[in-house]
Amino acid sequence: MELRLGVNIDHVATLRQARYATMPESKNAEPDPIAAAAVCERAGAKGIVAHLRSDRRHIQNRDIERLRENIITKLNLEMGNTPEIVDVALRIVPDEACLVPEKREEVTTEGGLDVVAQRKELEATIKRLQAAGIRVSLFVDPTLEQIDAAAELGVEMVELHTGKLANAFSEKIEKQELQNLQAAAKCAFELKMQVNAGHGINYTNIALVHTIPHLTELNIGHSIISRAMSVGLEAAVKEMLAAMENYNG
Ligand code: PXP
Repeated sequence: MELRLGVNIDHVATLRQARYATMPESKNAEPDPIAAAAVCERAGAKGIVAHLRSDRRHIQNRDIERLRENIITKLNLEMGNTPEIVDVALRIVPDEACLVPEKREEVTTEGGLDVVAQRKELEATIKRLQAAGIRVSLFVDPTLEQIDAAAELGVEMVELHTGKLANAFSEKIEKQELQNLQAAAKCAFELKMQVNAGHGINYTNIALVHTIPHLTELNIGHSIISRAMSVGLEAAVKEMLAAMENYNG
């Protein structure tokens, strides 16, 4: 079974914003996330992921518009469930939307959505996105409760949060988290949802990810963009694709 790679290009925009936040339209503004997306696609990525955050700390509206126009695989827009961002999504119509929790203070998305607690608010947004032809994913912690709630809301996909596995500081936690991810993947698959995974996946812990069943897609950003500093983006994507080969499902 082929495991597909979606590359998250947020941190290409992070680097641009570090210098050009006040003049993103400058002809000197670099690096360009849209150019980076093209390199990722050429290297074999099956999708491009970008997170339009409320504070616009990295990806900007214009980036999403240009990605929509230029990418040839598929655009997966990561988004918080806020009216402003939902409006952008409905205007741009990405192929997929992955709903994530979003706190302004966090450095990156810290935990999965609480689908159980936010069922009502999520339901309305999911329906609007789906009515526009967008496939919807929910980014969740690997618990059966969250998976059941996601299935009840009728989403096409879940993305299992692998951050806890990636950051486990003891073998015991790592083993426990892996079991949680394996059980959650099985449950989501049985409930007929596509199962994706993401957050904190790198060239080392990808070996553990291979032991999670029923995965269709991995969404990976930070490790690939970091590796690109040493070997270039195309090689970094290809190395990750090689590490994803021979997935047994
Ligand atoms: N998937 C989701 C839902 C995320 O929020 C992120 C981080 O933006 C990623 C995948 C990629 O995570 P990382 O950059 O750690 O690979």
